[in-house]
Amino acid sequence: MKFKYWLILGVMMACTQKKETANIEKTDFGVLADGSKADLYTLKNANGMEVKITNYGGIITSWTAPDKDGKYENITLGYSTVEDYEKGSPYFGALIGRYGNRIAGGKFSIDGETYQLPTNDGPNSLHGGDKGFDKVLWAATPEDGEEPKLKLNYTSKDGEMGYPGTLEVTVTYTLQKDNSLKIDYEATTDKATVVNLTNHAYFNLAGAQAGSILNHELSMAADRYLPVNATLIPTGELRPVSGTVFDFTTSTKIGERIEAEDEQLGFGKGYDHCWVFADSSNSLKSVATVFEPTTGRTLEVLTTEPAIQFYSGNFLTGDYTGKAGEKYPHRSGFCLETQHYPDSPNQSTFPSTLLKPGETYKSTTIYKFQ
Ligand code: BGC
Repeated sequence: MKFKYWLILGVMMACTQKKETANIEKTDFGVLADGSKADLYTLKNANGMEVKITNYGGIITSWTAPDKDGKYENITLGYSTVEDYEKGSPYFGALIGRYGNRIAGGKFSIDGETYQLPTNDGPNSLHGGDKGFDKVLWAATPEDGEEPKLKLNYTSKDGEMGYPGTLEVTVTYTLQKDNSLKIDYEATTDKATVVNLTNHAYFNLAGAQAGSILNHELSMAADRYLPVNATLIPTGELRPVSGTVFDFTTSTKIGERIEAEDEQLGFGKGYDHCWVFADSSNSLKSVATVFEPTTGRTLEVLTTEPAIQFYSGNFLTGDYTGKAGEKYPHRSGFCLETQHYPDSPNQSTFPSTLLKPGETYKSTTIYKFQ
């Protein structure tokens, strides 16, 4: 009899303990127009960092990071319900695919066969089309632990958004002990296709509601960038940044040269270009650092990718209302989207984005707070 009580007590204690150490929790995130439900996962680490991710679009909806006094505050732009995301979002925090960035004319050929994607950005295809990976429900598998993980799976059907091949995609978010979020991307296909996956988090290191990001200081380990035409398709040239307003090889305020007379800045309405790293290897390397002087927050980006789209939030115009009722004004968030070059399917001199059956697409990016 006595033993039985001890056993029950033991089981109860184990259960309470498990609850106390849960570093990943699931809550409701609302209902989509088609009636399906979205979930929100909160990942925590021992320092107090908290990242919220929904299985709708794999979107990071908020992320708290410490300032110089150790104060944790949300530093990513986003909404509080899935309904708001579905109503309209400039890709806030979302997973982007099948092809991040632009494909000219939404058209490309593989082995002599031409594929026409629906165009959704002037004459071009942007971020995988009207209903890209940012607007679908992913199957989520949470994994608790000191470094909690959220594994997201999505099967993109052959012909979905015009792309050939059934693509099996897995994206794993891991909140690490060192205040970093690791994103591992993997994909396989049953027919040759093109793949370029990324995340579209908008950061404001002074706090998501702080307004302009122009005083943030940015450095990138990139000695060249890809000039674009008026519809933001790369011309094919890899232009040295040296002596241009695109030189961030040493830490420079984002706003310092953003209004300069420059044809390329004119095309992007500010910075909206792809920078190419000096280190072209596919090993994990530190590629960018952003420092916000008032809060002392520093974000470092590491990736296995060869390039990064730095977008200075030029198309934010106060039309989007965030979590706390704030209107996100012009340039109130920046994106550092690690990736292969835009329009690679049409530019034979760019590193290939082709994925064939039997191969596995693999890519890792880490966003780390120092
Ligand atoms: C693109 C911008 C675009 C934005 C969408 C960025 O990745 O480079 O041109 O407006 O995504 O919000």
